[in-house]
Amino acid sequence: MAILYESGKKTFTLQTQNTTYQMKIAQYGYVVHTYYGPKAEDEDFSYLIRHYDRGFSPNPYEAGNDRTFSLDVLPQEFSSCGVGDFRISGIEVKNHDGSIAFCGTYAGHRIYPGKYGLEGMPSLRVREEDHVDTLELVLRDAVTGVEAVLLYGVFEEKDIITRTVRIENHGDQAVQLEKIMSAVLDFMDSDYDWISFNGRHAMERGMQRIPLSFGVQSFGSIRGTSSHQHNPFAVLCEKNACEDYGNCYGFSFMYSGDFFCGAQKDPFEQTRVVMGIHPEHFSWSVKPGEVFQAPEMVLAFSEHGFTGLTHLYHDIYRRNLCDSIYMEKRRPILLNSWEAAYFDFNYESLIEIAKASSEIGADLFVLDDGWFGERNSDDAALGDWQVNEKKLPGGLKRLSEEIKRLGMDFGLWVEPEMVSEDSRLYRQHPDWCLHMQGRPSARGRYQLVLDLSRKEVQDFVLDFMRNILDESDITYIKWDMNRSLCNIGSAAAKEQGEVAHRYMLGVYRILEELTKEYPQVLFEGCSGGGGRFDAAMLYYHPQIWCSDNTDAINRLKIQYGTSFGYPVSAMGAHVSVCPNHQTGRTVPLKTRGIVAMSGTFGYELDASRLDEEEKRQCREMTEDFRRFQELIFQGDYYRLTSPYENGAFTAWAFVAKDKKSCLANLVITDCEANDAQRYMRLRGLEKRQRYRIEGMEGSYSGQALMQAGIPVPCGMKEYDAAWYYLTAEEI
Ligand code: GLA
Repeated sequence: MAILYESGKKTFTLQTQNTTYQMKIAQYGYVVHTYYGPKAEDEDFSYLIRHYDRGFSPNPYEAGNDRTFSLDVLPQEFSSCGVGDFRISGIEVKNHDGSIAFCGTYAGHRIYPGKYGLEGMPSLRVREEDHVDTLELVLRDAVTGVEAVLLYGVFEEKDIITRTVRIENHGDQAVQLEKIMSAVLDFMDSDYDWISFNGRHAMERGMQRIPLSFGVQSFGSIRGTSSHQHNPFAVLCEKNACEDYGNCYGFSFMYSGDFFCGAQKDPFEQTRVVMGIHPEHFSWSVKPGEVFQAPEMVLAFSEHGFTGLTHLYHDIYRRNLCDSIYMEKRRPILLNSWEAAYFDFNYESLIEIAKASSEIGADLFVLDDGWFGERNSDDAALGDWQVNEKKLPGGLKRLSEEIKRLGMDFGLWVEPEMVSEDSRLYRQHPDWCLHMQGRPSARGRYQLVLDLSRKEVQDFVLDFMRNILDESDITYIKWDMNRSLCNIGSAAAKEQGEVAHRYMLGVYRILEELTKEYPQVLFEGCSGGGGRFDAAMLYYHPQIWCSDNTDAINRLKIQYGTSFGYPVSAMGAHVSVCPNHQTGRTVPLKTRGIVAMSGTFGYELDASRLDEEEKRQCREMTEDFRRFQELIFQGDYYRLTSPYENGAFTAWAFVAKDKKSCLANLVITDCEANDAQRYMRLRGLEKRQRYRIEGMEGSYSGQALMQAGIPVPCGMKEYDAAWYYLTAEEI
């Protein structure tokens, strides 16, 4: 059992291979958090908690005149609200009398093998090699009968702890849940840095590292999606932590809607981290006998710096998240028509592109936006999911059959969550979009959002998706979602504060059913690129289009930031034309290939316009990717330099789990004439193993390659790139 309750000490200790997490039932039934960090055996860490009379920190009534016991300073396992803890709270309950209070004390627990269930929402799955145990810890508010059941899933071998909370109303009055974080995590110190991943459309997940300082440093989304602007993943680390050194805590929220993540340094230099659904547009009625289930949060700790933490997330998200057959199977190399043709295509022009796509070795031809209804630009027809026969006579069936004849599979773009006002669907069902009574809705990319909090609207989406998938042989779907949610109201809802979360539950229901019914289909997520790049979407989609920005140099930063919390096999990355459509930059084709190869690899260009030499290079890149795909998708990922810090080049590597092979990549990001000799230092190799490097003479020890590195050829020009393939020399 990875979870031990010691009744004498009243401690709960959660053990994974390399970490220990502990809490304890303290005086008056309050549950305090005592430890999370490197593995420790047989220790009761509550000796760390000292009690002092802290001025202006109230004492619970039960503590009588003991002025040293205060919820305001104790490290707690979850927080109360309204009863004397002034730090950022994990919960806000509005009771039937209007009071805002919740004070949870220990009311029981259950420890059992296996993982708790989470109905209707994504969560980590248990695989046959896993030993997972669950702790359910009940905190009960004695006045109202409301319970917060804290759930912990301990993935012993994988050094991962999942947390979530279930609110149960055992009282006889309805309460309104105004805020519920999936986890609260208190630390007794505060000498940390706080790392988040922020950006904007076409420039997602830029890394920001700031010192934790007094007050709350928070980020989140109230856009109805996890968003381009802030990603639901954060790292708290020691000040001196770097790639291979230092204690790091990871917080990954498995949710695709509004979220909040905050870290607070309190007046006594302690830290609290909370993460959960953003409270801003949220309010949920919990009547007697009802429950509310919060989404899951995935916690990890590594004492080996960012790389250690990254490997924990990569490993668990590659193995325990998505059930698609494409997690094990080789993914197809696709060519997507968006940057090739935008809305400007017909049957003949697509076939031209498709023919050339097959010549460069693509496995899959994906028809992007513009194939349905009167969709000739982005201002119409979302919702009218019937093929436009004027553009594509014979429909998708004929097109897909022709693509098949060219030796490729056929894939399709959809944006099922949306409706254009200029559409038959909107004219038929104007109340099927999110809107607030009497208030005109803001448009985003001209479109409105379908009210997927309603079952009949979910069913409509399911039906047309089934029609599309049944009508022709489609092996890939790009599931897009191109606006932020606002005017979030539903004609069918009694409680408007519930609509945003019900919308997400509706999306999850649709994706759950479709992915189960069509296991042969590879679903790629998308939201204007990476606007919904989160662990919850990766539960359904093995890959997500990382960004609408295909500029290889910008991608270095985007993919770097994304790699901290998400595996490379999840990052949609394509080779596009130059000058790049987003930045106007020109970068060698080889460089574009190398950058796209640090993702799912594919093309986003009109292959029929490539000249013979470019086609040859593309064919070569396609072959290279096929050759290295397993190493790239299953190996350990190492960031060798940061695109934010190293002026001369950006480098990264994939090392096979058995350390017998490695693919190291570099891109020259800045160049000076007559430059200094620079070295790319590798990581993750076996010190004493000797490696051959393809295209280079001799062999080199892992030690030398890691300590001294590979000399970066001086003649490389700006934006040139190179890869080095290393294999262990047989002894
Ligand atoms: C979004 C996607 C693009 C493309 C367009 C189509 O912006 O991110 O890749 O599919 O929509 O309209």
